Amino acid sequence: MSKKANAKEKRPARETNQTVLRQAMLRRLPRRLGASGVFVLPPVPSLFEHFTEQLRELFAAFGRVFDEADTLHLQGVVKTQLERAYAVSPYSRVVVRYQTEAPPGTAMHYDVQVELSSVADEYAQWVKTRTPPYFGVNPDAKVLECAHALGPPAQVPVLDVGAGTGRNTLPLARAGFPTDAVELSPALASVLRAEVEKEQLSVRVFEGSALGELGLPSGHYRLLFMAEVIASHIRSVEEIRLLVAGAARALAPDGLFVFNAFLAKDGYRPDPVSRELSQALWSNLFTKADLAAAFQGQPFELVSDESTHDFEQEHQPPQGWPPTGWFVDWARGLDLFDVPSGRAPIDLRWLVYRRL
Ligand SMILES: C[S@@+](CC[C@H](N)C(=O)[O-])C[C@H]1O[C@@H](n2cnc3c(N)ncnc32)[C@H](O)[C@@H]1O
Repeated sequence: MSKKANAKEKRPARETNQTVLRQAMLRRLPRRLGASGVFVLPPVPSLFEHFTEQLRELFAAFGRVFDEADTLHLQGVVKTQLERAYAVSPYSRVVVRYQTEAPPGTAMHYDVQVELSSVADEYAQWVKTRTPPYFGVNPDAKVLECAHALGPPAQVPVLDVGAGTGRNTLPLARAGFPTDAVELSPALASVLRAEVEKEQLSVRVFEGSALGELGLPSGHYRLLFMAEVIASHIRSVEEIRLLVAGAARALAPDGLFVFNAFLAKDGYRPDPVSRELSQALWSNLFTKADLAAAFQGQPFELVSDESTHDFEQEHQPPQGWPPTGWFVDWARGLDLFDVPSGRAPIDLRWLVYRRL
């Protein structure tokens, strides 16, 4: 073999395959490709691996491929912030801000922060941005049924806990029931107070959390109800227990404690993801065993347990159905589970307990 031919063989072959070269150039593209953005997560600590994977894929789409160490670090930061946010409020948000390194760097910079939002903050926003009525026009048929079943209105003092803007409080007061209300959100309480004053009703509005001390009269009410409150905002068996204890103090013997809550249907065992996510989606999930634990040792007996959706649909005036655009899907558990209607493993139940 000639010297010339030998040198030719030793020289590395040039890559000329267009497909291979195109991929090779695309691998260099991140040196000039920039991206920045914000990724907002609900506070569901049990989904930390899922969210980390979503972020990893997002960053990879910009040519920022995370190795195992990068991924583990991201996962740790995301998990910590999800836990911090969840501990404070299910309406908090974990906000991931990301920004590619300036050219020709190819790193991805990110920052994970918690933005807190309380129940009161959420409703203040509703009052600023939404058009009332926020929870429907008509009172709950179940609440009216229970109130009227207890006797002539003047003899049936009622307490609406988590009254909102008074969807139930105002019709009860107009019908002659001595009515008081508890409301946590200052924004909603002031709408309710304005209406009470306008109509010159004698409703007392206690502003604050029903989980705390509000100076309510003891042994006074014959009906105490919480409509869409446990279902939307109550976070644990301990919190329900506090509400049950408060109801036991405020109710007269034989009085009724009425509320609606999302309960797991028989055969469904909620896992941590469903429990945590249910709170972020205002469909707070409990089991019958949770309720039994909350009522353990308290002076109540269960009188009835039925579907809120079915009861209200049957008893509301036709022009009052559905109460809001969101009510039917929410009450059927479809805000939490994207399954065909009727197939969600949870249901919003009306529960009626008698004070012993
Ligand atoms: C979905 S709204 C329902 C309002 C009203 N009960 C109705 O059905 O039209 C839930 C209400 O519960 C109130 N709330 C939530 N947590 C509360 C608490 N710990 N104490 C008192 N009210 C509370 C909220 O501020 C809100 O007004």
